[in-house]
Amino acid sequence: MTLRTLTQPARSRGGLIFAVVLVAVVAALVAPFPTHAQNGGGPNFGPVRDRDYLSNGRYDAALVELGRVLFFDEVLSGNRNISCATCHHPENATADALSLPLGEGGVGLGVARTAGNGPGRVRQRVPRNSPALFNLGARQFRSLFHDGRVAIDARSASGFDTPAGDDLPAGLDNILAAQAMFPVTSAIEMAGRRGANEIGRAAARGRLAGDDGVWNLLAQRLRDNPEYVRLFQNAFDDVDDATDLTMVHAANAIAEFEMDAFRSDDSPFDRFLRGNPAALSQQQRRGMNLFYGRAGCARCHGGALQTDRRFHSIAMPQVGPGTGDGPDGRDDFGRERVTGNRSDRFEFRTPSLRNVELTAPYGHAGAYATLDAIVTHYRNPPQEIRDYDPSQLILPSRRYLDRFDLIVMGDPGRVAAIAASNEARPARLDGRDRADLVAFLRSLTDPAARDLSSQVPASVPSGLLTR
Ligand code: HEC
Ligand code: HEC
Repeated sequence: MTLRTLTQPARSRGGLIFAVVLVAVVAALVAPFPTHAQNGGGPNFGPVRDRDYLSNGRYDAALVELGRVLFFDEVLSGNRNISCATCHHPENATADALSLPLGEGGVGLGVARTAGNGPGRVRQRVPRNSPALFNLGARQFRSLFHDGRVAIDARSASGFDTPAGDDLPAGLDNILAAQAMFPVTSAIEMAGRRGANEIGRAAARGRLAGDDGVWNLLAQRLRDNPEYVRLFQNAFDDVDDATDLTMVHAANAIAEFEMDAFRSDDSPFDRFLRGNPAALSQQQRRGMNLFYGRAGCARCHGGALQTDRRFHSIAMPQVGPGTGDGPDGRDDFGRERVTGNRSDRFEFRTPSLRNVELTAPYGHAGAYATLDAIVTHYRNPPQEIRDYDPSQLILPSRRYLDRFDLIVMGDPGRVAAIAASNEARPARLDGRDRADLVAFLRSLTDPAARDLSSQVPASVPSGLLTR
């Protein structure tokens, strides 16, 4: 549509209409997507900006540096053998490259990780895929985890609705800080088993808050380390001496680090949104128009970060030990676990797709190994889950772990139940469409995310650096 064809009829109907139409046309011309109306596809939103992030994208350097060492320090785990970075390592694009993590007791990083040996070895896989942590400082993220069980909630005293209920202390700056209180309380992720150490013992008794709770016991380890005390004094006005230091301070610092280090919004797609059409190849543009058009992806993956922040079932294959649901505990009911509503069964949050090329395997249990595999899933989710090929799982093998991995997928009744919950309409996608969609998904990679090694600290105060 040209300026000429729009203004001509308007002029004949008088000045006011002319003015209104002129404003509309000018708006269309200065809008970032003049192509949108012409081709019926493409995004209908602008680029991500600083103000879309907490603190407008500006973070406190002393807090970030403290958060960085805490994120990599195994002192925050009961048996001093695992850190946040083990499962969210910059080398693995802030995740662990596995379908399901091996938590405390495991050895090594990424695909080389093993379940370890001896009495301290891993006894059970973590039941869900470790998500990447990109752009979680964006204000739009008001709930975290695959099932959204940590959420902003103005009605609760702490400001958050979490599994800890009233135990969660006040003073947590944001939702990432609230989240950071939890991995340390999980026996298989970081705390360790009941008999193994004082943290694991407190966690097994459900003691999180209080002097003998997980959070205070961990803070005590930090108080006992003079270098940490100095770093906390530096970073916080309300930490004068060691006794002031709490796990809440640690969580706030970790959150500041995550927001700063893992903001990642300079991909070719971002450059396109900022007004450079040449940032995307022809194929990526075809894929983009499919994504925001006929393929229906944007029904759920809408907006600049490709998520509606809601929960849906896409009939994703269920693998691994499960979260305790179903007849034998091997299912994962997803969002229903949080809401208690049967209608939310098998729903998981729509993930952001930023840097998705770097964050395989995909889905809440890491069922799909490649972008092509998950895009193919959308041709017909209820059928694809029945045809699922488990050979693509990336699960370091151990007989006593492996035997639980495919219980649900080996049971046609349970597979049918997941298939029946599907909300993603089958999309007609031929080979070229799928290749175009994958090309578009690759345009969401920020080149800086390919090498995040500068985020790894040279050392940590305890000496227990995850590398
Ligand atoms: C043993 C592996 C493991 C360790 C250690 C670990 N995480 Fe995670 N992390 C996960 C898994 C798995 C999930 C998803 C769990 C779920 O949804 O139920 C997750 C989820 C998260 C999320 C939510 C992301 C989102 O998009 O919803 C954040 C943030 C996070 N972890 C940060 C941390 C921090 C900070 C630490 C250290 C205090 C940590 N993690 C330690 C495996 C781990
Ligand atoms: C009905 C909502 C919905 C639609 C439509 C949809 N998705 Fe998804 N998508 C989801 C949900 C929910 C998940 C996570 C499922 C899980 O974890 O089990 C997901 C996961 C993904 C993932 C894996 C991301 C990761 O980090 O694990 C990719 C890639 C993806 N979708 C791409 C697409 C593409 C491409 C389309 C269009 C062909 C599409 N989606 C259509 C809801 C949807």
